[in-house]
Amino acid sequence: MSTNPINGIKRTRDTFLPPFKHSIGKEEINEVIDTLESDWITTGPKTFKFEEMFGKKVDSKYSVAVNSCTAALHLAIAALGIGVGDEIITTPFTFASTAEVVINQRATPVFVDVEENTYNIDPSKIEEKITNKTKAIIPVHYAGHACEMDEIMDIAKENDLFVIEDAAHALGTKYKGKEVGSIGDATCFSFYATKNITTAEGG
Ligand SMILES: Cc1ncc(COP(=O)(O)O)c(C=O)c1O
Repeated sequence: MSTNPINGIKRTRDTFLPPFKHSIGKEEINEVIDTLESDWITTGPKTFKFEEMFGKKVDSKYSVAVNSCTAALHLAIAALGIGVGDEIITTPFTFASTAEVVINQRATPVFVDVEENTYNIDPSKIEEKITNKTKAIIPVHYAGHACEMDEIMDIAKENDLFVIEDAAHALGTKYKGKEVGSIGDATCFSFYATKNITTAEGG
């Protein structure tokens, strides 16, 4: 048991049902030490190596490391030129940042309900929410289960929309043999402590 130094509340979570349990071994620790002893302790050679290796792993031509999946989602929306007055279709069954980044970019999130069996966005309900302001769809591969990407990509193509995948939970997920990361216009992953692989915080 440990005590929160700010409010004095005793925390039991480190002994009872931890929300995550990371696996960090000597190899990872040595890499951190190597960085700390190098001339470059911020975004530098190891980040570029990580980007290259990660891009290969998810079969993506480009890969950019940022400080969170939230930042990655925001960056993707901004890079695609989406902003004031635009709408983005997404799911309400997700972490707050999926919709929050849309608002941060002064656009409006439009929610489409999820499928009962997967908790992923229901492609059959997307088209009824498309307006002349819609610019993109953000499907979330909930708990690592891939969304129906063929249907989503077809709808996007027909309606001239971008697809930004929220793959915070979905590193290593494949859809019909394709890596998640190789399908939409941009795919955003999380390396937060509870995710499939972690850099403590990162995306
Ligand atoms: C579905 C989903 N999207 C985005 C995020 C944001 O990830 P990050 O904490 O790396 O910003 C999370 C985090 O839990 C998530 O579950």
